Amino acid sequence: MLENLVLLHLAEGLEPWPILEEKTGLPREALKAELLQLKAEGFPVRIEEEGAGLEPGTPAPQILLPLLRGRLGRPYRYLGLVPSTQDVLRGWRDAPCGALVLAERQTFGRGRHGRRWESPPGNLYFSVLLEDTDNLLPLRAGLALAEAAEVGVLKWPNDLLAPDGRKLAGILVEAQGKRVFLGVGINVRTAPLPSSAALAEFRPVNRAQLLARFLWALENWLEQEKERVLCAWRERNVTLGRWVVVATGNEVLEGLAVDLGPQGELLLRTKSGLKAVFSGDVISVGTKEVEDPEVREGETESGGSGHSEGKRPGPSAE
Ligand code: BTN
Repeated sequence: MLENLVLLHLAEGLEPWPILEEKTGLPREALKAELLQLKAEGFPVRIEEEGAGLEPGTPAPQILLPLLRGRLGRPYRYLGLVPSTQDVLRGWRDAPCGALVLAERQTFGRGRHGRRWESPPGNLYFSVLLEDTDNLLPLRAGLALAEAAEVGVLKWPNDLLAPDGRKLAGILVEAQGKRVFLGVGINVRTAPLPSSAALAEFRPVNRAQLLARFLWALENWLEQEKERVLCAWRERNVTLGRWVVVATGNEVLEGLAVDLGPQGELLLRTKSGLKAVFSGDVISVGTKEVEDPEVREGETESGGSGHSEGKRPGPSAE
């Protein structure tokens, strides 16, 4: 997959045509044609009378790579329109751990539990290749997201919600053997659905800086002790202590979300006892915190109940 050379020569804001002609070695008309093509592919290229360039904060390699502080994000493929960054990363056979694929738009963005992830321009859609992750990866990634976004709370396991409950960002974890594909969608400028919010509604956002901060925060959370991850997640969540409805693969459970288990599973007090949910979608969260005087440690059902999955979930269980 060859990167477009004209794209790699562009800077944030506008640069005068003579400078661009010199940098790319292309005459103006050929350069303009290339830029129009890039724009049609979804890259945020500005073409004006006085010159051309990229929208500020565009995560092109020449802008993102100098911002990276750790090992995640390299090597990097920056693309325009793709079906799904998860599939591009999966198809990148010799990609090493830390490799990053980002696209400006996706035609078949995937969400959790087979849902579609709407991917209009102006947001962030990317996938990172990881290895040797543990069962807490979804929580670790959620914490990194909340830290980088500086806004919002976490709904189990890792949806980032705006203070009014609309969804700002989501994470999809898929695995193939030891390779783990961590896909992240952040609504930066556009909220594609009535139930979603854009981060830019709450603060000014530079997409390249946001992405670099996420990768650095993720690297940090990947190294943290499990107990610290669970504690930090409990402090930043909007699920525990509330009445919730959770769709697991097989059924819909309703109850009080009392805590996280050691593997990051959601412990739910239902009418028929305490259940551990390893994989599921919290489809409704009560607005008020509820007291649970009945919870006692070690009371969780596991296996056999038909609710707990009775196995440690791998990353693909998300
Ligand atoms: C969710 O359902 O909350 C998870 C959404 C994950 C969407 C991201 S966008 C980049 C990557 N590519 C995809 O197709 N999905 C993930």
